[in-house]
Amino acid sequence: MQTGCSGCHGMGGGGMGPSVMDDQWKFGGDDETLFKLIKGTYPGQTMPSVFGMLLKDEQVWKILAWVRSIYKGDPSGIVW
Ligand code: HEC
Repeated sequence: MQTGCSGCHGMGGGGMGPSVMDDQWKFGGDDETLFKLIKGTYPGQTMPSVFGMLLKDEQVWKILAWVRSIYKGDPSGIVW
């Protein structure tokens, strides 16, 4: 919310950006892919890369931990 992620992702459920709660991941749901995506260094991403400058690595990991905690997809889809 603070960082403006919810402008595109809603409260995790999506909107202009995809849902971060389901088991569908555009590039993959593993830690490495999502870390790069949030940092803005994933090749071909359309999500803005400004967050990489605003967020410290530690904050990105905290966001990822939160994203894991709101996961509503199939447990067999967990890749982390
Ligand atoms: C301007 C709109 C926008 C904003 C703001 C935004 N995102 Fe995204 N996000 C996207 C789009 C579009 C994608 C799909 C991947 C791509 O094409 O880059 C995405 C993908 C993701 C994914 C992977 C979801 C999937 O299903 O593959 C995560 C996790 C994520 N964003 C987290 C965040 C976080 C955390 C923030 C705030 C720091 C944020 N996003 C801010 C548009 C946005």
